[in-house]
Amino acid sequence: MAVDETPEAGTPPWRMLLAYARPHRWALLAGALLSLATGATGLALPLVARSLIDDLSEDRSIAGALVLMSVLVVANAGVGALGSYVLRRTAESVVLTARRRVSSYLLRLRISALDRTEPGDLMARVTSDSTLLREVTTDTLVGLGTGGLTAVATLVLMGVVDPVLLGVTAGVIVAAGTVIGFIVPRINRAAKRAAESVGLMGAALERVLGALRTVKASGAEHREEQAVHAAAQESWRQSVRAAKWSALAGNTAGLSMQVAFITVLAVGGARVATGSIDVGTLVAFLLYVFYLMSPIQQVVAAVAQYQTGAAALERIREAQQLPAEPVAAPAPLPEPGAEPAALAFEDVRFRYADDLPYVHHGVSFGIPPRGMTAFVGPSGAGKTTVFSLIERFYEPTDGRILLDGRDVTDWEIPALQAAIGYVEQDAPVLSGSLGDNLLLGNAAAGEDDVRAVLRTTRLDGLVARLPQGLDTLVGHRGTKLSGGERQRVAIARALLRRPRLLLLDEATSQLDAVNEAALRDTVAEVSRRTTVLVVAHRLSTVTSADRIVVMDAGRVRAVGTHAELVAGDRLYAELATTQFLAAAAGTA
Ligand SMILES: Nc1ncnc2c1ncn2[C@@H]1O[C@H](COP(=O)(O)OP(=O)(O)OP(=O)(O)O)[C@@H](O)[C@H]1O
Ligand SMILES: [Mg+2]
Repeated sequence: MAVDETPEAGTPPWRMLLAYARPHRWALLAGALLSLATGATGLALPLVARSLIDDLSEDRSIAGALVLMSVLVVANAGVGALGSYVLRRTAESVVLTARRRVSSYLLRLRISALDRTEPGDLMARVTSDSTLLREVTTDTLVGLGTGGLTAVATLVLMGVVDPVLLGVTAGVIVAAGTVIGFIVPRINRAAKRAAESVGLMGAALERVLGALRTVKASGAEHREEQAVHAAAQESWRQSVRAAKWSALAGNTAGLSMQVAFITVLAVGGARVATGSIDVGTLVAFLLYVFYLMSPIQQVVAAVAQYQTGAAALERIREAQQLPAEPVAAPAPLPEPGAEPAALAFEDVRFRYADDLPYVHHGVSFGIPPRGMTAFVGPSGAGKTTVFSLIERFYEPTDGRILLDGRDVTDWEIPALQAAIGYVEQDAPVLSGSLGDNLLLGNAAAGEDDVRAVLRTTRLDGLVARLPQGLDTLVGHRGTKLSGGERQRVAIARALLRRPRLLLLDEATSQLDAVNEAALRDTVAEVSRRTTVLVVAHRLSTVTSADRIVVMDAGRVRAVGTHAELVAGDRLYAELATTQFLAAAAGTA
């Protein structure tokens, strides 16, 4: 598979690792060769030392040998440093590739997929799990490569020296391999659980820090703290378990080579006694057994280390299996003066998940371009869901949604969303500056447009009051703004997109009478150029609407003007006298 492909469900982790490493294969190879060269210069040193001693004993000049030794020492240090730098750098590049890839994927996740996950856990997959790939890249790939090659070469030479003793050595190695084969899945399982616990900890922390005011107000710090600690503890427990099995695997490898040494000594000694081989052959073979020790341990360490990486890669793959939107280029925003959009729902049925009840039981309505349409209905009727479906955050199970007479599923999602300005019910504001928030939906908006929008949303006073104006930082989720200010920022942001369809999910309160009137005027003004849909919770909004869609329990009950509905629809009349009037009284 290639790096930019999404791994399939069954892709083994090593294939993902190779895919991440492939773009850096030459750097990896160079690093491995440099490591080998470091080893070789190290091995040459004793030889030069011997010739230096020979020179001394034979009264020759030692200058040549000294220079050579110095060169070797410096070369060893230099090549060693370069080799480890190249390998570390490559490992970091692999981590970078993985992080870029996964974070881009997460930003394209479908909202329905996001509903089923914990953001804190997803975050851990990009931050902590990807970090685990660093050691795996160098240790596993290079360790397996150099260690494996050296081991195979040594085994071949052993076979040349004496096939019988090679058989004995191979027998011991196979026995040790069987034991290690039993241990390795346990390392993998423990590593997987450790990574999962880090994810749980991230989720628990995100949950608390994302709502710390509520947690404090509820006096729940202690309970939440316990949840975070429990996850941290579990990660510790599983990591320790993985360390235990890794140590056992390493020791098994070491032990097996000792056993091989003794067995070869015994069997070889017997063969020397019977005259099958001479002593020189036995000594040479024993030296090879000795040489085999380090590459074998390197291979076992690589296999053990790989288990941690495999666990991380599996978690990364899981994240990349969540449903996401196709990759698409960003779409341009509508030109100034673009035609407003027409919208229609045709018998739309929808539920948030297969195991949840239907939220829309056949919703139908048609909205011509321009003008303001208010959606009203009791809480939970499915009004916000209408907006989510228009934005294609979710797909209806049945029926069609038409924008400009074209099914929204035929639209490219960026083009669809570029046509729409959406103000969510809880008016989210992102951390960063006030200006960043305004320009979020249209980074190219001009200063004049910003100033005009600030005036219509009555934010100009606020901006003038703040010493840093638009550069004022608003805090996490805009906590440094008041509720009403957040709402107006969200509206200003949507207006700056010059949408052809404006979706405004009115919050139930938060605007005072003056601002409410100003907002009503703004919306009325915008609705002359744009199609505006408002989920209305205030009487002032519905009375100024061109048409009202009354929703109840996932159905459209009635459509009409305020006067028509007060006379003709019992639910609407009731809402109008209770909910709206109460809200109006509250703000008056
Ligand atoms: N992401 C979701 N996953 C599952 N169920 C959801 C989700 N969002 C909303 N619901 C459910 O769908 C139903 C309709 O919700 P919706 O938000 O559309 O109501 P609403 O009419 O906007 O209500 P309100 O006036 O209180 O904002 C509710 O019963 C709600 O519990
Ligand atoms: Mg709602």
